[in-house]
Amino acid sequence: MTTRFPALHIGPLAIGPPVAQAALSGYSDAPMRVIARRLGAGYTVGEVWLDRFVVEASHGRRGRRLLAVRDEEHPCGAQLMGSRPEEFIPAALALVRLGFDAIDLNLACPVRKVLARRRGGFLMGQPDVALEIVSRVRDALPPEIPVTVKLRSGLDESPESRERFFAIFDGAFGRGAAAATVHPRTVAQRYAGRAAWAFLAEVKRHAIGRIVLGSGDLFRAEDCLAMLRQTGVDGACIARGAIGNPWIFAQVRALLEGRPLPPPPSVYEQRDVIVEHYRMAEEVYGPKRSGRRMRKFGIRYAQLHPQYAEVRAAFIATRRPGDVREVLRRWYADDLPGRWPDVESFGRMVEGHVECDD
Ligand SMILES: Cc1cc2nc3c(=O)[nH]c(=O)nc-3n(C[C@H](O)[C@H](O)[C@H](O)COP(=O)(O)O)c2cc1C
Repeated sequence: MTTRFPALHIGPLAIGPPVAQAALSGYSDAPMRVIARRLGAGYTVGEVWLDRFVVEASHGRRGRRLLAVRDEEHPCGAQLMGSRPEEFIPAALALVRLGFDAIDLNLACPVRKVLARRRGGFLMGQPDVALEIVSRVRDALPPEIPVTVKLRSGLDESPESRERFFAIFDGAFGRGAAAATVHPRTVAQRYAGRAAWAFLAEVKRHAIGRIVLGSGDLFRAEDCLAMLRQTGVDGACIARGAIGNPWIFAQVRALLEGRPLPPPPSVYEQRDVIVEHYRMAEEVYGPKRSGRRMRKFGIRYAQLHPQYAEVRAAFIATRRPGDVREVLRRWYADDLPGRWPDVESFGRMVEGHVECDD
């Protein structure tokens, strides 16, 4: 028997399959988003950008390359972070001019430096400021561009924190937000323990008719179906589980369509995607920085390789531009079956920094 899940809509955006690539600082850049889309993500969100960074970067050629959206990415959201409501406006307008289809407001980031600057997750404790940001951005943007929010379940486990969550959640929709992505861990919890999917179900029961995307512990295609089924959220937002395993989107699509779970990609399928990822990274970052970026992704892509430990070590050892290609030549020459990634390893990755932060 197959369970049918309705197509996802975010405001006027028709997303289709209810599976999205989550915002991931240091990862969900254009190359990662394009690959996620090609492999079946209905929607993608860029890594969080600081409002001031966007305004500055949008004036320069290099910055515009970083902020660019490719034709095949649509629909694609950009995520903004900041502390002063008025500073979000020029950044949001610049991102819309650059072609992003939606603006997501980060009220969730638990990184210490971010909290110290009264940004991200700090705002889960400041409903007035958070909602002023939503209002200002909503009012400044054309109506066809949806504004969405990314939330954690609160600052901490206290009842006051829970009240503030619902004040922000309801207030954001009341001010015109089209959807909320909820990661059901508190800011204080960061990544400890399991994501509380029961909270997602509660939010969804509270929010009849509102679009809620769920985030948290989606490491296998089956997890996404389980979240959709158990919580009633309108979409599953895959984060760590897609780093080095973008095939998870194709696997979710298969399950959503009632097909059997496809096997992990073969070594040649992996190689083709990594080569393409690297090519796009070079276009965005140039040879040196793309090498560093691909080292990080390569270490995660290695998870799917039958000789996982050796390939991982080979990616770790890359230093110079071009080393990653050498790893591909050496370890991806024979088309062997791939392996399922180790689910535990995804859970060990945490949000440690924000790339564009000052
Ligand atoms: C390395 C890393 C970077 C992240 N960057 C962002 C970000 O830029 N914006 C955001 O809203 N969430 C960010 N997150 C949170 C994820 O989008 C997601 O909500 C969280 O990881 C829970 O999902 P998961 O358990 O399936 O990974 C990040 C998480 C990690 C591990």
